[in-house]
Amino acid sequence: MHSFSVLLASLLVSPLLANAFGHGNALTPAHKRHRNRAPSTYQKKRASYTLEDMYTGDSFVNDWSFFSEADPTHGTVNYLAKDAAIQAGLAVTNNDGPSTFSVDNSTWLGSGQGRNSVRITSNKQYNGGLFIADFEKMPTGCSTWPAFWLVGPSWPNGGEIDIVEGVNVNTKNQYTLHTGDGCTLDATLRVSTGNVLGSNCVSSNGDNSGCAYTDPSENSYGAGFNDNHGGVYATVWDSEGISMYFFSRCDIPEDIDNETPDPSSWGSPVATFPFTSCTADHFSDMSMVLDTTLCGDWAGGATGSGDCPKSCNEYVMDPTNFATAAWEVNYIAVYQNN
Ligand SMILES: *[C@@H]1O[C@H](CO)[C@@H](O)[C@H](O)[C@H]1NC(C)=O
Repeated sequence: MHSFSVLLASLLVSPLLANAFGHGNALTPAHKRHRNRAPSTYQKKRASYTLEDMYTGDSFVNDWSFFSEADPTHGTVNYLAKDAAIQAGLAVTNNDGPSTFSVDNSTWLGSGQGRNSVRITSNKQYNGGLFIADFEKMPTGCSTWPAFWLVGPSWPNGGEIDIVEGVNVNTKNQYTLHTGDGCTLDATLRVSTGNVLGSNCVSSNGDNSGCAYTDPSENSYGAGFNDNHGGVYATVWDSEGISMYFFSRCDIPEDIDNETPDPSSWGSPVATFPFTSCTADHFSDMSMVLDTTLCGDWAGGATGSGDCPKSCNEYVMDPTNFATAAWEVNYIAVYQNN
C-alpha cells in the first residue's frame, strides 16, 4: 500500500536516508563500535529491523487522512479537512525539511468557539513493529493537548498506545496505554527509567486514566524539547510487549539516523509494558494519529492555576496564545522485525 514513490521521495530528502535499502549494514563492526550504552536487562537479543514505511513530506497528505469530525476528547477545536487545512496553512508538507501541522494563530474567537487545528491518521494499520518518530518541535502552551499515538478499532478494545502526550506548559512526556478489559501493567518485570503513574490500563465506566509512565527528562516534552530541536520517540511493539524510548536531538543513536535501528543497543526504555498481566490481543489493527486539541477532557481541567492561571476557554479565544502550537515533523518511520 505504501508506495515506492514515497520511499523514493524520502531518499531524495536527506543523505541520512540513503541507507533505506541497505539493510545489511546493521552488523558491521563499525556500527558495533558505537554501541556504547549498557545492555538492557530485557530485550537482550538483537532483532533485525527492515524499513517498511517512511512518512515524510507529501506522504503525510497522500498516505494519511484528515479527521474533520467533532473531537472525541471534547476539545475546543475545529479539525479541518485536508483541503481546508492546506489552504489555511495549518498543514504544510515539505520534502526538504520538517512538515508542520499547526493550530490557527491569527483569529480571535468568541467564547466556546473551536479553534482551527489538524488531526491526521495513517491510512495503513499495524499489528506490531518499531515506530520511530522524529519531531523538530511539538505544540506547547496553555490550553494545548498535543499527541502522537496509535489507536485500534472499537475503542478501547483495539487498544490505544500514547507515545507523546501532555498538556499546557508541561515539560515531561507521558506514555500511556488504554485497553479493554483484563489488562494491567506489571512494572516490576522490566527495568525502565520512567516513573509509573498508574497500573490499570482498562478504560471503563468513565475511568480513562490508563496505565502510564512519566519521563523524568525535562527535554522530553514542550519547551525543553523544542529548545533542543526536539528528538526521537521510538516504540517497540512485538510479541513480548510494548516499550518506548526517548532521545533528545543530540542523544539520538547513530543506528536510528542510519536507518538500521537496533533497540537492544539503546539501554533501558523509559516506559515498558510487558505482555504478561496484559496480553497481546488487547492491541490490533492500529493506525497512527498526530493531533493537537485544545482544552477538552485533559487540558480543560488542567488550567486555572499555576503557569496557566486563566480558564481554558479564555486561552482558546486569543490567537497570541498559539505562537508555539505547531508540530514540526521530520519523519515517522515504521520498521518490521524479520
Ligand atoms: C503562526 O503559525 C505559523 C504556522 O505554524 C507560523 O509560521 C507563524 O510563525 C506563526 N505566527 C505567529 C505570530 O505565531
